[in-house]
Amino acid sequence: MAHAVVILAAGLGTRMKSKLPKVLHPLLGRPLVGYCIETAFKSGAERVVVVVGHGAEQVRQAFADHPGLTFVEQREQLGTAHALAQAESVLAGFPGPIVVTQGDTPLTRVETLKGLVEVLRREKAGMALLTMRLADPTGYGRIVRDERGEILRNVEQKDATPEEQAIQEINPGVYCFDSTLWERLKQVDNRNAANEYYLPDLIRIYREAGQKVASVESKDPEELLGINSRAQLAQVERVLLERLRAHWMTQGVRMILPESIYLEPSVELAPDVTLWPGVILRGRTRLGEGVEVGAYAVLSDTVVEPYAKVRSHSVCEGAYIESGADAGPFARLRPGAHLEEGAHVGNFVELKNARLGRRAKAGHLAYLGDAEVGEESNIGAGVITANYDGKRKHKTTIGRRVFVGSNSVLIAPVTLADGAFVAGGSAINQDVPEGALAIARMRQRNIEGYVKRKEAETTAQQG
Ligand code: UD1
Ligand code: CA
Repeated sequence: MAHAVVILAAGLGTRMKSKLPKVLHPLLGRPLVGYCIETAFKSGAERVVVVVGHGAEQVRQAFADHPGLTFVEQREQLGTAHALAQAESVLAGFPGPIVVTQGDTPLTRVETLKGLVEVLRREKAGMALLTMRLADPTGYGRIVRDERGEILRNVEQKDATPEEQAIQEINPGVYCFDSTLWERLKQVDNRNAANEYYLPDLIRIYREAGQKVASVESKDPEELLGINSRAQLAQVERVLLERLRAHWMTQGVRMILPESIYLEPSVELAPDVTLWPGVILRGRTRLGEGVEVGAYAVLSDTVVEPYAKVRSHSVCEGAYIESGADAGPFARLRPGAHLEEGAHVGNFVELKNARLGRRAKAGHLAYLGDAEVGEESNIGAGVITANYDGKRKHKTTIGRRVFVGSNSVLIAPVTLADGAFVAGGSAINQDVPEGALAIARMRQRNIEGYVKRKEAETTAQQG
């Protein structure tokens, strides 16, 4: 019988000092609670219920089309037991074990959830919970055991006597229950220092009902790091980054100053990729074998085929770079930029929805928007495709082995046929036929002896 997971995520998150609900804060580009939802499904959960409150609509929208996922709303935040009770409407009658986790604890491992379910079954317990020993247990609920080591109850920091506060075994907030949960929850009251319905009171209630309460001690304090503040968010992000970098290095990726490299879980890297310091890789970025990314380059949703290079300080978003092509330093590849095999983009070149054919070059200071450039063409420094007339975008089509001289403006829609040659400084607004020279600028005029004559005039006036 598969289990269900309830994720408590209705809390305010005051300490984040943000308009965004806490559980939607991005952690490596994805909302925090997304990690909890993924872990829940990976643990084999049949149903996942998220209890939302603050920013309920926003949270719901962030996960609109996730199959097997239900949201329930806790309108008033009266405590963790009250939050869990909101899930009864969805899970009443669910026969399997019910795991409960907290939406602000994204590093909890899949194995940990599976382990709790297993312990509940093996020990025929009514409830199982995780515990952990901390050198500094401040702020957490403390686990009170009897002399035989049986768990008696949990006591919150606010309610604890000085002796209880000295207990180092804490409640990290991960539990598993049998299906009597809903009837037991009705016995939780709010007679405590916070006037809240405390979920961990279920320990005492299950025991009083004569059921066993089992526990599993976690040896990995990292996995239970909760996020209540920006500093804790940064700390968790650091842990995740370290895990990701370590993973890719075992897969054959070379990282220079790895601690300076940022990458998201959705990124895929092949062996012999080299990443220089300060590289940022986001979203669906995929780097093929032997790709090199220079210092401080930023790549989002960009695919780079084997042995291509993105040089330092380049910014690529939604770009596609084929084998042996190279871009940068200081290249800007915007969505729809496509460099075919061996194409070259140099410094201060911007491409948007533009394809550069095989071995074509745009070496310096150019803008190519809504453009097709055929193979082995050369785009000179300062060339601009004027693709926007203030209302609509127009296309520039450049054939093969075309030469576009420096500082030319190509006013779209316009086509330069194969082998065309545009003289530098031209403003081109008519198509250029195959193999033709187009020159579209004022003809130069040299005035012989002008400088000397001017000097002579000035001297005469002063004398
Ligand atoms: C809780 C536990 C504490 C444990 C700690 C571990 C209780 C009473 N205390 O304390 O024993 O050591 O977690 O991190 O459970 N939430 C709701 N609705 C509410 C209140 C909270 O959905 O009305 C959610 C929060 O969004 C959060 C989770 O429940 O994700 C935990 O709430 P929080 O207020 O952070 O509890 P702690 O004080 O950390
Ligand atoms: Ca918390």
